[in-house]
Amino acid sequence: MKNVLVTYYSKTNTTKMIAEKIGELISSESLKVSIQPIEATTRLSDYDGVIIGAPIHGMRWATEIVDYINLHASELKDIKTAYFFSSYIIKTGSGFWRRAITKSLDTVNELISPIQKGKFGGRVEKVFGGFPRLIFGIKKSSPIDVVDWEEVAAFADLLKVEL
Ligand SMILES: Cc1cc2nc3c(=O)[nH]c(=O)nc-3n(C[C@H](O)[C@H](O)[C@H](O)COP(=O)(O)O)c2cc1C
Repeated sequence: MKNVLVTYYSKTNTTKMIAEKIGELISSESLKVSIQPIEATTRLSDYDGVIIGAPIHGMRWATEIVDYINLHASELKDIKTAYFFSSYIIKTGSGFWRRAITKSLDTVNELISPIQKGKFGGRVEKVFGGFPRLIFGIKKSSPIDVVDWEEVAAFADLLKVEL
């Protein structure tokens, strides 16, 4: 039996919901899964695999999660680590911003060499006004919730094989 931690930072619960879904989908007789917010985690070395999730804020991975990864980088080096983010613009915005978001993960990629990277759509609380839509290249018809649960399930399927 392997122990796996799914840990997340979430401001408005979307990443939390994705983390819980991933935890539920990878859980099996051979994978014991704990799902916890980053503040609740203790010794990462107790786990064989760690999956880390957080939203995109200001076109980069939330500072809270980058700080967490920096703090635990030496432990994570010896553990199979995967990550995911949830972002509204990654699904709705222009290529310029989508590339900027992906690029913001470069440092983390070097630090932890992830076995999988999930780039999921996210959810915002209300529709964007005309000015931010223009700046970010968001189509007027975009719904407020762009989480694609099939992508989340496909990510979980890959993890089941690789963990
Ligand atoms: C303060 C704040 C800033 C945000 N900035 C961005 C951003 O720069 N790019 C983006 O794609 N989404 C941005 N979002 C949207 C979130 O990344 C997205 O909706 C995510 O799914 C929210 O996850 P959470 O509910 O776990 O906090 C922002 C949301 C908030 C609340």
